[in-house]
Amino acid sequence: MRTPFICGNWKMYKTVSEAMAFLDAAKGLVGGVNDVDIGIGAPATALKSLADGAKGSNIMIGGENCHWENEGAFTGEISPQMLVEAGCKFVIIGHSERRRYFGETNETVNKKVKAALAAGLVVIMCCGETLAEREAGKTDAVVADHVKNGIAGLSMDEMAKVVIAYEPVWAIGTGKTATPEQAQDVHAVIRKLLAGMFGDAVAQTTRIQYGGSVKPENVREIMAKPDVDGALVGGASLKPDSFAKLVNFKA
Ligand code: PGA
Repeated sequence: MRTPFICGNWKMYKTVSEAMAFLDAAKGLVGGVNDVDIGIGAPATALKSLADGAKGSNIMIGGENCHWENEGAFTGEISPQMLVEAGCKFVIIGHSERRRYFGETNETVNKKVKAALAAGLVVIMCCGETLAEREAGKTDAVVADHVKNGIAGLSMDEMAKVVIAYEPVWAIGTGKTATPEQAQDVHAVIRKLLAGMFGDAVAQTTRIQYGGSVKPENVREIMAKPDVDGALVGGASLKPDSFAKLVNFKA
């Protein structure tokens, strides 16, 4: 069985004090949930305080990006080892905003995925097509390209710590959610790809999250699809009550 994984992606929102106020409220609201993995991807400045504050709770803290080296002359970058020491349990890699605005490619994503796994982090590896690509009938090909290249060269053991997030670019921050059927269709394609690359056992145990305008109002129907194992949530993860409703999607 795949444990559902609901994860916030705060992007470039929340100062340290705002992050800590959220955490205080959220801990009380989701404390009783023990059958869902719960994560918050947060800006680097807030990670250490959040991770310290989340100790002993059921909330995991993670980074939104990392470099592929553990140290070096890379001004402005953060290494996987730095995330680990700050208390992070996971890192989001290859988000479409990073691909689009910060020049990430399948090649750099793959290097980052490998480095993050080597440091002991769980990796949420993002993939997804643009609207133009969907309209041109290229969705499956684009997603396959992101997934195959992003996790190329990993071992079956390493795959145990990889989560794939399918995030259609046209659904991110736009209020346009993919229908549960559209999400399911692509998730099934991804699972088939994983079976081809790593065998059925890995395909059946790897979690695939959906992301793109997930909110308390639509999370339940999306999560009901057989190949949807979680959600990666931006806007609706920024308020504790909304975040708690997402985590409590079964209620
Ligand atoms: P959104 O963002 O929920 O605000 O659409 C999702 C994401 O970018 O991970």
